[in-house]
Amino acid sequence: MSTYDNAIEPPHVSVLYHHIISALRPKSPGFYVDATIGAGGHALGILENSAPDGQLLGLDVDPRALELSLQRLSLYSHRTHLVHSSYTELRNVLLTLGWDHVDGIVIDLGVSSMQIDSPERGFSFQKNGPLDMRFDPSQPVSAEDIVNNYSESDLADLIWRYGEDRNSRRIARAIVQARPLHTTLDLANVILKIARSYPGPIHPATRTFQALRIAVNRELEGLEVFLPRAIQSLNSGGRLAVISFHSLEDRIVKQYFRFESRDCICPPEQPVCNCGHHASIREITRHPITPAESEISGNVRARSAKLRIIEKL
Ligand SMILES: C[S@@+](CC[C@H](N)C(=O)[O-])C[C@H]1O[C@@H](n2cnc3c(N)ncnc32)[C@H](O)[C@@H]1O
Repeated sequence: MSTYDNAIEPPHVSVLYHHIISALRPKSPGFYVDATIGAGGHALGILENSAPDGQLLGLDVDPRALELSLQRLSLYSHRTHLVHSSYTELRNVLLTLGWDHVDGIVIDLGVSSMQIDSPERGFSFQKNGPLDMRFDPSQPVSAEDIVNNYSESDLADLIWRYGEDRNSRRIARAIVQARPLHTTLDLANVILKIARSYPGPIHPATRTFQALRIAVNRELEGLEVFLPRAIQSLNSGGRLAVISFHSLEDRIVKQYFRFESRDCICPPEQPVCNCGHHASIREITRHPITPAESEISGNVRARSAKLRIIEKL
């Protein structure tokens, strides 16, 4: 049984909830997408605020998140469409529904509390479980495959690129020497043994676990595919709100929004514009919105959240 089967309270507190609702300005009748529905918290707010006729499409690759959202949104089932799909497939899902364009899209990246809190999903280095880390359990590659089969140099590159861990080479060497590793604690203990200083501000396995999760789920590639498809799917005046949780994600979002909000992308030294590029969006947030101290004190997961919002021209 998962840790959230019997939950009475929502097992995941939606980050920056009020900011998302005021960014999307849900109305009736309107068409909205929650590209990572999770426990359905943002989706519930969109449905409540777009009553009586607003429609919501919710996507997730985790079947358990979809089950949970189905229950939580049951009051609005006649206006809710839940689909087991990656957000990279947004265009295809919209076409299947016959929705050409929508009025608002939210994507809340990363891992949900119920995924972190379920040891059998393998996301947490604090709870023992299989080295899994797949958001979509039907995907072929798990963290265990990567940890046990990558070469030492590929592992080091991955921990450096996606975890930005200065100890990436030492960690990769220690992993290769200790293989095979099967559980989250096997891996966390290998990293703890070689950690130079602990306790420090963060657990020494934090960055390696982040790197593996990003690689297993191809998260950065997925975000790069999603952003243009999301903007293409918006009506003029429609809005996209993106919540990210680390600098690698935020950098991709920021650079893409900057690029698409410019009329000219010629190099600055070029005297006359000949790029033919036209802005397709307007940035609502030049700087990202971050949670207030009061939100962080009630939900530590919100600590590193950054929200960027654009409007389609
Ligand atoms: C932080 S949670 C979303 C929480 C949600 N906003 C709420 O209010 O409850 C992120 C969700 O994204 C899902 N996810 C991860 N990768 C995905 C992908 N490629 N396509 C769709 N959903 C994905 C995860 O399974 C997880 O349920």
